[in-house]
Amino acid sequence: MKLNDKVAIVTGGNTGIGKAVVLALAGQGASVVIDYVCNPEATDELERQVAALGEKSAGVEADVSKVADLQRLVDTAAQTFGRLDVMVNNAGVETRTSVLDTTEDQYAKVLDINLKSAFFGTQLAAKQMIGQGGGGRIINMSSVHEDWPMPGNTAYCLSKGGMRMLTRTAGVELAPHGITVVGVGPGAVDTPINASTVADPAKLKTLDAAIPIGRLAEPDEIAGVVAFLASDDASYLTATTIFVDGGIMQSSPGL
Ligand code: NAI
Ligand code: BGC
Repeated sequence: MKLNDKVAIVTGGNTGIGKAVVLALAGQGASVVIDYVCNPEATDELERQVAALGEKSAGVEADVSKVADLQRLVDTAAQTFGRLDVMVNNAGVETRTSVLDTTEDQYAKVLDINLKSAFFGTQLAAKQMIGQGGGGRIINMSSVHEDWPMPGNTAYCLSKGGMRMLTRTAGVELAPHGITVVGVGPGAVDTPINASTVADPAKLKTLDAAIPIGRLAEPDEIAGVVAFLASDDASYLTATTIFVDGGIMQSSPGL
């Protein structure tokens, strides 16, 4: 398996894309620290699924908007599994509010959970990787909206735009240490973040029609790309984003 003896952290790891990433990494032989903020029962169940794959995991309740909690995730990887090879900064939230109606609290929440967490997650993971030696992988779960406006979700777009430059700049800075930094930019994925769209037949029809492949992605279709990026097969990829969007960013009505 391609990730034998590797140790990973996945933030926001007990739902949606994060959960699929945990299973994809464990499916390739990695031990995984699963970060979560709510629903410990879901984490317990996921740990059982990882064990059924013959791999190890450790659930840790940690709020990624707090640097001390991020350090606790890194320390758990080092103390429980001996090292850290792959950091997946996946946790994220959105408010679906525009530039005119976003409050200061909403702005701070989105930027802290999505961007501050990825910045310090990258910093703390890189320090651990440099200290232990041997390089590492940092994978930032961005979005098509790092580059493509989503009117009515402005703070979210800002946070993902920041992640885009974090990936590029940290990728350049950390390359001499053998650490690669890659962004993953999903389009629309069938997870809790899109529950209100999926539950509304008219909105779902409009969204499906905007996607050349004609449907939302399943979380596994994003997680498989993350597992590839974590493996030696992706050794020459850094400081860039891989979009996994069913073609949505290139979609055109053909006028
Ligand atoms: P989700 O809502 O299932 O996952 C978000 C996760 O982040 C949840 O597990 C949540 O508990 C966790 N989280 C929220 N605040 C946190 C905090 N303070 N500390 C730690 N964890 C926290 O939705 P999904 O879709 O799986 O989202 C995962 C990532 O994928 C997010 O960064 C999102 O922006 C990104 N993404 C999702 C897309 C989609 O269409 N579903 C498309 C593009 C990007
Ligand atoms: C957003 C979703 C949206 C998708 C495609 C994601 O980053 O979180 O709300 O459906 O992009 O636009």
